[in-house]
Amino acid sequence: MAHAFLLFLLFPYIISTNIHDCKQTERSSLLSFASTLSSPPLNWTSSDCCRWKGITCDQDGWVTRLLLPSKGLKGELPLSLPSSNIRTVDLSSNHFSGAIPSSFFQQGSNLTSFNVSNNTFTGGNLAPELGKCSKLQVFRASHNNLSGLFPEDIYNATKLEEIALPFNSLHGAISDKIVNLTNLAILDLSFNQFGRKVPLNLGKLSKLKFVTFDYNNLEGVLPPSLMNCTNLVELRLGSNNLEGDISMLDFSRLSQLTKLDLRLNNFTGTIPVSLYSCRSLKAIGLAANNLVGQIEAEILSLKSLSFLSLSYNRFTNLTGAMKILMNCKSLHALSLARSYEGEGMPSDDNMVDFDGFQNLRVLNLAYCDLDGQIPLWLSKLKNLEMLVLSGNQITGPIPSWLGTLPRLFYISLDKNRISGEFPKQLCRLPRLLYEPNISSQVDQYEFELPIYGNRSGTGIRTFPTQKLEFFPATIDLSKNNIVGDIPIEIGQLQLLQELDLDSNNFSGVIPDQISNLKNLEVLNLSTNHLCGTISSSLASLHFLKEFNVSYNNLEGPIPTGSQLQSFDASAFEGNPKLCGAPLPNKCRPNKDMDADNKNNKNEGNGHHQLPWFYIFFALGFIVGFWGVCGSLVIKKTWRYAYFRFIDNLQDRLCVMITVPLNRMKRRLRG
Ligand SMILES: *[C@@H]1O[C@H](CO)[C@@H](O)[C@H](O)[C@H]1NC(C)=O
Ligand SMILES: *[C@@H]1O[C@H](CO)[C@@H](O)[C@H](O)[C@H]1NC(C)=O
Ligand SMILES: *[C@@H]1O[C@H](CO)[C@@H](O)[C@H](O)[C@H]1NC(C)=O
Ligand SMILES: *[C@@H]1O[C@H](CO)[C@@H](O)[C@H](O)[C@H]1NC(C)=O
Ligand SMILES: *[C@@H]1O[C@H](CO)[C@@H](O)[C@H](O)[C@H]1NC(C)=O
Ligand SMILES: *[C@@H]1O[C@H](CO)[C@@H](O)[C@H](O)[C@H]1NC(C)=O
Ligand SMILES: *[C@@H]1O[C@H](CO)[C@@H](O)[C@H](O)[C@H]1NC(C)=O
Ligand SMILES: *[C@@H]1O[C@H](CO)[C@@H](O)[C@H](O)[C@H]1NC(C)=O
Ligand SMILES: *[C@@H]1O[C@H](CO)[C@@H](O)[C@H](O)[C@H]1NC(C)=O
Ligand SMILES: *[C@@H]1O[C@H](CO)[C@@H](O)[C@H](O)[C@H]1NC(C)=O
Ligand SMILES: *[C@@H]1O[C@H](CO)[C@@H](O)[C@H](O)[C@H]1NC(C)=O
Ligand SMILES: *[C@@H]1O[C@H](CO)[C@@H](O)[C@H](O)[C@H]1NC(C)=O
Repeated sequence: MAHAFLLFLLFPYIISTNIHDCKQTERSSLLSFASTLSSPPLNWTSSDCCRWKGITCDQDGWVTRLLLPSKGLKGELPLSLPSSNIRTVDLSSNHFSGAIPSSFFQQGSNLTSFNVSNNTFTGGNLAPELGKCSKLQVFRASHNNLSGLFPEDIYNATKLEEIALPFNSLHGAISDKIVNLTNLAILDLSFNQFGRKVPLNLGKLSKLKFVTFDYNNLEGVLPPSLMNCTNLVELRLGSNNLEGDISMLDFSRLSQLTKLDLRLNNFTGTIPVSLYSCRSLKAIGLAANNLVGQIEAEILSLKSLSFLSLSYNRFTNLTGAMKILMNCKSLHALSLARSYEGEGMPSDDNMVDFDGFQNLRVLNLAYCDLDGQIPLWLSKLKNLEMLVLSGNQITGPIPSWLGTLPRLFYISLDKNRISGEFPKQLCRLPRLLYEPNISSQVDQYEFELPIYGNRSGTGIRTFPTQKLEFFPATIDLSKNNIVGDIPIEIGQLQLLQELDLDSNNFSGVIPDQISNLKNLEVLNLSTNHLCGTISSSLASLHFLKEFNVSYNNLEGPIPTGSQLQSFDASAFEGNPKLCGAPLPNKCRPNKDMDADNKNNKNEGNGHHQLPWFYIFFALGFIVGFWGVCGSLVIKKTWRYAYFRFIDNLQDRLCVMITVPLNRMKRRLRG
């Protein structure tokens, strides 16, 4: 009884689906489309095309929806594909090529949503006839190879709410006619080559929420009319050639604005005070303009501000800025690189309160003319993950407390005048130690706006990214005056990906423990006083993409049959006693070679080293005596000469005595 009742309920449904089989014309045009594809089969076999995967029909059997996103489909779209009843098309994230057939739009008076993003469509005359689509609301064709002008016809499709064409090669101007698209809320034209001016009346489009024009060639001023768009959520105009005094703009009505990106333009003036009344702001990007002035305390009314990038401008009062910004409780990323000149380091230890910068993850103060030592207040930033102080005039040693910051994984101290030794404590950075529980969790943090992960030299990651996980665990101490051994404790930093000690005064051997750093992608030890052989254990660093030991005093053969030999000869040059491929000089066949290789590890206890053993003792006595007395009585100039003498000795008698001598020097420095 129950069954019969159920059948009764289902009956009308069964009837309707049977009656409205797909139209024969639809079926044959879909089949001819499927037959032209050179890709996985669509499995369109049954007689009723309205039941095929990705197809939806209306009551009369006309296709209304064609939804085939991410199906790996490959080929060109036939002209015959759409019918006049089609409403929704989603062919995104496939491998379609050729032109987007205009037949979609000719017949498209019912079309409301069209998404062909992320294919390889080409063509210079995008979407002619688009103007006929009087119902079209969404038009997406991002990530394709479309070229030519912005389609003139688009201005007739006045129902449009979203136009998304980022990542193409479109050029030309955005016409003033765009003001006819009064329903427009999303306009994303980023990563193209649009030029000329931003339409002066763009702001008449009062429904605008997202205006994304970054990475184009736009010029002229930021239209004041945009300040009337009270619904604006994101305004992104970075990397164009825009200019004009932004302090004249009144942002105060943009109460919904969360992201303002004006980076990499030519704007002048001060930070507009009215900006501080946009209470929803999460991200401000003003880097790389010609802005002047100071950060005002009013910025603290932006309670959600998480991302502030002011680098590459000409601001003043860095200490004042830091004192204000430390109270920005939501601030996660602060970049002030090359925006202050000649003011020195904000060095007052009490400058930062115990709860100042409590959420800061990224601090970039590169190229700010900072002098003095690495300031103690940095030790209060317990959530710091990336610290960039490159290109300043910082002196003094690397403080040992740096190794205690619990979340720090990216340290750039390159291009300074830092002295002293590599502190062993830095080898205990918690984030870089192998800890099964932590290392398996990737930090999913995303910045509010993309930032550059540029590292000079490697040329990788030049593309802007918002993901913190794309930044490799890094210690970059290159181009300083750091002396002494590379500590063997370095082997504990098993999660380290980039180690750059280039152009310092490191001496002693390359510690074998470096071969424990299995995640290492960049190892640059160039231009130091390192000696001994290159241990074949380094060949176990399978992820190495960049390797450089040039201009040291290394000797012996480059380990054969290893990945190290795949690097260019320039990675090894400037070590006269180094031999073998890829260097041009062949190693002399020598039965001691293998022994030499081993000696590197055990600091010398082989028989042939016996005479050196005595010399070492004699020298050790002299050195020890001078060391104790010298530090007390010998004048500075003598001490300098004495250091030179030891340096010379080290270069000559490298492997055997450098390590003990380094220990003595450490004691001398006391
Ligand atoms: C077609 O069927 C095969 C085998 O069942 C399946 O692997 C494939 O994903 C199907 N293709 C589509 C587009 O669904
Ligand atoms: C739009 O679709 C309706 C039915 O859904 C159909 O009657 C009409 O003819 C279509 N419009 C055009 C211009 O084809
Ligand atoms: C583009 O499509 C490919 C598959 O074809 C997918 O792997 C990729 O994530 C897509 N990219 C975007 C930006 O959607
Ligand atoms: C393509 O655009 C349509 C319409 O907005 C949307 O529903 C669909 O999710 C988009 N597809 C992808 C893969 O983004
Ligand atoms: C677009 O609109 C203008 C003005 O209404 C009209 O002259 C032109 O023919 C239209 N273009 C198309 C393709 O409909
Ligand atoms: C798309 O354009 C890029 C650069 O303009 C080019 O390198 C690539 O080969 C093009 N791809 C296709 C499928 O045309
Ligand atoms: C834009 O709208 C105005 C008035 O509403 C109209 O006169 C003009 O033809 C329209 N332009 C286009 C290109 O549709
Ligand atoms: C902003 O809107 C007001 C009122 O609608 C109008 O008077 C003013 O001219 C507009 N400003 C700009 C710059 O368009
Ligand atoms: C920026 O503007 C100044 C004048 O205000 C001009 O001299 C300079 O060339 C401009 N720079 C760029 C990159 O357009
Ligand atoms: C620097 O900024 C601080 C904090 O806003 C302020 O008290 C101080 O007067 C400023 N100094 C100068 C020279 O403007
Ligand atoms: C890892 O996590 C588990 C449970 O989450 C815990 O029992 C274990 O002690 C942790 N191990 C370490 C080394 O912290
Ligand atoms: C990033 O590096 C590339 C070359 O490696 C350079 O062309 C580009 O200007 C750099 N970008 C920034 C923002 O420094």
